Amino acid sequence: MAIGSGRELTWIFELLLILVMTTQVRAQPPPGFINIDCGLKNFSAYEDANLKLRYSFDDEFVEGGEKHEVLPEFMASTIDDNQNTLRSFPDGSRNCYTLPATPGKKYLLRAIFTYGNYDRLNKTQDGSLFRFGLYVGVNFWDSVDLSNWRTDDAVWKEVVTVATGSSVSVCLVNFGSGTPFISSLELRPLLDTMYPFVNTSVSVSMFIRLRFGNITEVITRYPTDNYDRFWGSYSVRMGDLYQYPYISLNTSDNLENLPGNGFKVPSAILQNAMSIDANNSSITVSLSSLSNKDALTLKLLPIFHFTELNASNPNRRFNIYSAGEGLFPGFSPSRLKVDSLYQSGLFTQTGDAYFILNKTASSSLPPLINALEVYALVLMKNLTTDSDDVKYMKDVKAQYNLARTSWNGDPCSPIEYSWKGLTCDYSKSNQIPRIITVPPINEP
Ligand SMILES: *[C@@H]1O[C@H](CO)[C@@H](O)[C@H](O)[C@H]1NC(C)=O
Ligand SMILES: *[C@@H]1O[C@H](CO)[C@@H](O)[C@H](O)[C@H]1NC(C)=O
Ligand SMILES: *[C@@H]1O[C@H](CO)[C@@H](O)[C@H](O)[C@H]1NC(C)=O
Ligand SMILES: *[C@@H]1O[C@H](CO)[C@@H](O)[C@H](O)[C@H]1NC(C)=O
Ligand SMILES: *[C@@H]1O[C@H](CO)[C@@H](O)[C@H](O)[C@H]1NC(C)=O
Ligand SMILES: *[C@@H]1O[C@H](CO)[C@@H](O)[C@H](O)[C@H]1NC(C)=O
Ligand SMILES: *[C@@H]1O[C@H](CO)[C@@H](O)[C@H](O)[C@H]1NC(C)=O
Ligand SMILES: *[C@@H]1O[C@H](CO)[C@@H](O)[C@H](O)[C@H]1NC(C)=O
Ligand SMILES: *[C@@H]1O[C@H](CO)[C@@H](O)[C@H](O)[C@H]1NC(C)=O
Ligand SMILES: *[C@@H]1O[C@H](CO)[C@@H](O)[C@H](O)[C@H]1NC(C)=O
Repeated sequence: MAIGSGRELTWIFELLLILVMTTQVRAQPPPGFINIDCGLKNFSAYEDANLKLRYSFDDEFVEGGEKHEVLPEFMASTIDDNQNTLRSFPDGSRNCYTLPATPGKKYLLRAIFTYGNYDRLNKTQDGSLFRFGLYVGVNFWDSVDLSNWRTDDAVWKEVVTVATGSSVSVCLVNFGSGTPFISSLELRPLLDTMYPFVNTSVSVSMFIRLRFGNITEVITRYPTDNYDRFWGSYSVRMGDLYQYPYISLNTSDNLENLPGNGFKVPSAILQNAMSIDANNSSITVSLSSLSNKDALTLKLLPIFHFTELNASNPNRRFNIYSAGEGLFPGFSPSRLKVDSLYQSGLFTQTGDAYFILNKTASSSLPPLINALEVYALVLMKNLTTDSDDVKYMKDVKAQYNLARTSWNGDPCSPIEYSWKGLTCDYSKSNQIPRIITVPPINEP
C-alpha cells in the first residue's frame, strides 16, 4: 500500500481521534444488550438520559397489539421514560415478542409493566382482578398481578434462561382478567459461570434480589452492575426499622471473588453489609410478606453473597437456615473475599422466603450479610415445535402475509395456545411436537 500524502494522513488521524473521543465520551454499553421501549410511536431509537442505554421501538420484535401511552398525569412519576409507552394485546390469547439470541447462551430477560391508566378504565384501582400470564417461550414463567396496584408503579419480572435456538421469546397470555400489556423488555447476556444451576431444562424467575447495609438507592442496576441485575435496598424496604440494634458496615477496599465464584456480583454492591449489635445473636430476613397467591407453591433457591468487611478480621461464624431448615452450618465469611453460597439444583419445597442467620457458640461476633438473591424454579418441560416446521410456517405466514390472531408464538406448544387450524403430533412424549397438517390457505 502506498503511503498517503500528508494531508490524507492528517485527515485519517483526525478521524481516528474523533472515533477515540466518541468512544470515550459515550460509555460503551456491554455488548448484546437489547433494550426495547414497547409501544414507542417514534421510529427512532433514543438514549435514556439516566440509564445511558439506547432504547428502540418494538415493531420488529412483535406482531399484534396496540400502542398506548400512560396518562399525562403519571408520566413524571414512572420509574423511567421507557415506562411512558406500552403495547397492549386486546386480541388473541397469546402474543409473543421474539428476540435474537445465540443458541446455548445464558440470558437475563426482564419485562416491566407500568399501567398508568392508559385505557382510562382504572383497572388497577377498581377492585377487580387484573392479572395475566407471562411465558418464556412455551413455558410458564410468572403471572403479572396488578390488582390493587398503584397506577404509576412498575412491576418487573426477571428470568434467567438458556436459549435453545437462535431466538428467545416472551409471551403475554390473556387469563380472562384484563388485557395484557408490556412497557419495556430487556435482554442481557450472562456468562456461563453465572447461575450454574440454570440449563436448557431449568430456568429461574427472580423472587427477590437485595443488597444490605446503609443504602438509600431504591434500585441499583447498570452501570454499577455490568449485567444490569436490579438490586433492591433492604434498608429502604425496612424503613424506620433499620436502626439499632442493626449495624451498617462499609468499605471502599476492592473485593475479590473466591476461586470458583462465577456470579460476578460487583464490588460496589458487596462493599456494604448489615450486621447486628453483639447483644443479639441472629439476623432474620423475612420476605414472606412478598407472598402473593402463588407464592406458597413456588420452589425457591436462595443465593447468599458474603464478605467480611470488618477491618480487624474478627472471628465471625454463623449457621444459615431457610424456613427452619438448616442450609449452611458454621459459615465464616473471608475478609474482602466474596463467597456465594447456594445449594445447586436444590429448591425449597415451600415458597416461604424466611431466612435466619444464627451465630455459632464459638463466634465472637453476630452474623453479617452483604447481598441475597432468591429465585423460583421455572421448569422448561414443554418443548418447542420442530425447528424446520417452525421455519416452514414462518415462510408460509410471510408469503401469504397472514396476520391471524391465533398464529402467534410457537405453532404447537403448549397445546392450549397452538395455532388454530394446524394439526400437531405430540404422540411421542419427551419429543418435540411436529406439524402434521396445515389448513388451506387462500391467497389474498
Ligand atoms: C422522534 O425522535 C427524534 C430523535 O430522538 C426526535 O428528534 C423527535 O423529536 C421525535 N419525535 C417525536 C414526535 O417525539
Ligand atoms: C379509580 O377507582 C378508585 C376506586 O374505585 C376511585 O377511588 C378512583 O377515583 C378512580 N379513579 C379514576 C381516575 O377513575
Ligand atoms: C406445558 O404444557 C402443558 C400442556 O399444554 C400445560 O398445561 C402446562 O402448563 C405447560 N407447562 C409449563 C411449565 O408451561
Ligand atoms: C447512612 O449513610 C448516610 C450517608 O450516606 C449517613 O448520613 C447516615 O448516618 C448513615 N446511617 C447509618 C445508620 O449508618
Ligand atoms: C461507613 O462506615 C463508617 C464507619 O466505619 C461510618 O462512619 C460511615 O457513616 C459509613 N458510611 C455509610 C455510607 O454508611
Ligand atoms: C449491649 O451490650 C453492651 C455491652 O457490649 C451493654 O453495655 C448494653 O447494655 C447492652 N444493651 C442491651 C440492650 O442489652
Ligand atoms: C436484640 O436483642 C434484644 C435483647 O436481647 C432483643 O430485645 C431484641 O428483640 C433483639 N432485636 C433483634 C432485631 O433481634
Ligand atoms: C469489628 O471487629 C471487632 C473485633 O472483633 C469488634 O470489636 C467490632 O465491634 C467489630 N465492628 C463491627 C462494626 O462489627
Ligand atoms: C439441569 O440442571 C438440573 C439441576 O439444576 C439437573 O437436574 C438437570 O439434569 C439439568 N438438565 C440438563 C439438560 O442439563
Ligand atoms: C441459634 O443457635 C443456638 C445455638 O448457638 C440455638 O440454640 C438456637 O436454637 C438457634 N436458633 C435458631 C433460630 O436456629
